[in-house]
Amino acid sequence: MSVVAVVGGQWGDEGKGKIVDMLAEKSNMVVRFSGGDNAGHTVVNPLGQFALKLVPSGIFYPRVACIMGNGMAINPAVLLEEMDSLKQRGIDLSRLYISDRANLIMPYHTLLDGLEEESRGGKAIGTTRKGIGPAFSDKIARLGIRAGDLLDKDGFHERLSRLLEYKNAIITKVFGAEPLSLDEVFQQYCEYGERLAQHICETTVMIADALERGDRVLMEGAQGALLDPDFGTYPFATSSSPLAGEASIGAGFGPTRIGSVIGVFKAYCSRVGAGPFPTELDDETGELIRERGHEYGTVTGRPRRCGWFDAVAARFTRRVNGCTGLAITRLDILDTFPRLKICTGYELDGQIIDNFPASVATLARCQPVYEELPGWQVSTSDIRQFEQLPREARQYVARLEELLSCPADIISVGSAREQTIVRRDIM
Ligand code: IMP
Repeated sequence: MSVVAVVGGQWGDEGKGKIVDMLAEKSNMVVRFSGGDNAGHTVVNPLGQFALKLVPSGIFYPRVACIMGNGMAINPAVLLEEMDSLKQRGIDLSRLYISDRANLIMPYHTLLDGLEEESRGGKAIGTTRKGIGPAFSDKIARLGIRAGDLLDKDGFHERLSRLLEYKNAIITKVFGAEPLSLDEVFQQYCEYGERLAQHICETTVMIADALERGDRVLMEGAQGALLDPDFGTYPFATSSSPLAGEASIGAGFGPTRIGSVIGVFKAYCSRVGAGPFPTELDDETGELIRERGHEYGTVTGRPRRCGWFDAVAARFTRRVNGCTGLAITRLDILDTFPRLKICTGYELDGQIIDNFPASVATLARCQPVYEELPGWQVSTSDIRQFEQLPREARQYVARLEELLSCPADIISVGSAREQTIVRRDIM
């Protein structure tokens, strides 16, 4: 059985949590392979509504093994809080495994994320301030502390004391802030380590064994391709790759194992944080999308910027992800609009382009070229068969498929698990 990867095709918040929750039903294993608690995956299922930040969205199925892969950056304090709240709601966590290679978010990462953002002033990235950038920078600079390090207290103490001396020099000398105490950080992280020890293990073997057995393995992406540090709107990006290619590296198996890539796209666009957004609607239509879609950040509560579907950006992210199918989410949010727009090209310096530029300065100068389609103006949230959707809604989906050269295998018309139209079995 090959691996299925579910990835975001826009700027995050596409509704991946719901799609993973749904596909997890037929899976044996769900693996998160990137990001950290900057992600907020909302899942609504018969057990209630959950806002997951770190734990894979497969946790609600008792027979699914859930792995937090080496590609994640994990804040143990946040993870323990999330685990406690899940346990209180009766969710069994005995099948939660944390890669011993996953990097940890340390108190200096969150502190520096905030200090760096403040020092950027009007040029701030609008990060979630969860320490993501500083933690992934440390990973690549070989200055990280990994989950497995917590299991060897002496080694951890030695490494932390060296690192903290260096971090405190930056905190005090560059930013003029208060240094962190080695004893406090060490004690705190030893306690986290003791509580998490039973979950920390070598997870690549588990994944290999599952694949060997022919198990169904689902890879859960975080954020979206337009926040990728290489292909996103850099530097207004996150610091780990949300792309399907990372599913293999961030979990530890070969890329040849990935058989399907489901790109999740909202039927419109949204973005949190700064950076160019060509189809942004700074008017009452944008406001209406935000209110109808409750477009406020799961993690930060920030209002999301909203706009029409951008097919130029989507074609690009479909390509860099190698999507084999699409999941179009939140189609129901468009139910009330008499006319809908899809951006099919950008106008740049008097010319129409259909490629997504690398430079944010260029992207900021691009004006969207729209195609208008009729709306359907009836509720779609109770529809479960594609053929029963109003003709205009089918036309809208068909146009997205055509523009992206990819079939819409799943269409979501509400937040609940059952509010889904499945046109092709994925798992
Ligand atoms: P960071 O990942 O906290 O460093 O934030 C970098 C950028 O990515 C900011 O614009 C954030 O708003 C955005 N971002 C990070 N995680 C998410 C997410 O899960 N959904 C949407 N935007 C995100």
